[in-house]
Amino acid sequence: MMRMSRPISDTAYTETGSVRHRILVATRNCHKLREFAELCGPNFEVCGMESISGVPQIEESGETFESNALIKAEFASNFFSHWVLADDSGLEVDALRGAPGVLSARFAGEKATDAENRRLLLRRLEKLGVRGKHRTARFRCALALAKSGKAVLSASGTVEGIIVESETGMAGFGYDPIFRPVGYSKTFAELASEIKNEISHRGRALRELQRAWVKLF
Ligand code: IMP
Repeated sequence: MMRMSRPISDTAYTETGSVRHRILVATRNCHKLREFAELCGPNFEVCGMESISGVPQIEESGETFESNALIKAEFASNFFSHWVLADDSGLEVDALRGAPGVLSARFAGEKATDAENRRLLLRRLEKLGVRGKHRTARFRCALALAKSGKAVLSASGTVEGIIVESETGMAGFGYDPIFRPVGYSKTFAELASEIKNEISHRGRALRELQRAWVKLF
């Protein structure tokens, strides 16, 4: 694949002159991007796909979170000179035999909004008569880190929980208002972002990846 010119360089500098590593997160989802910026901390400048030009839409054709994360990381790293991190994530509901899974973003249709996806999920569970503790689910996140078109590291994380009966909370995104993690009485959309980052699928996957990436940065 032809490489594009590099619009941004590998490192940035803080006001005091110390190095910050630039990392591209292969997503156009501003919520994911904000979570990665919080999770990576002050030594990383996290940019999203909107900060580089000329990258075609990436087709998420994989059947697993892991394969989609690899596809996204390897594809996007052809357009950026340094490390590219890709996340593929979603929700698995046991009563729906793992749906929406890799189709989480498109559950209610190709262009569905988060609200439409949540409504459909709640309707499906209600129709099946699945209540209370039987509404078990988990968020999964697969991460891949790539450079020059090749993935070099991968990691994954999960968080178990319950789908609540109606939306609660205003924070977060996606399915956060209907997902209550095990051990908590609030949904992800009610919990502070520090708590979500501590226990979330994305936080867990990133910390696993970071244990290996200390050799790279
Ligand atoms: P992706 O861009 O294919 O990885 O889409 C992931 C979809 O899964 C998102 O659009 C959300 O609907 C859902 N999702 C993933 N992570 C989270 C999360 O942390 N909270 C809520 N929804 C999530």
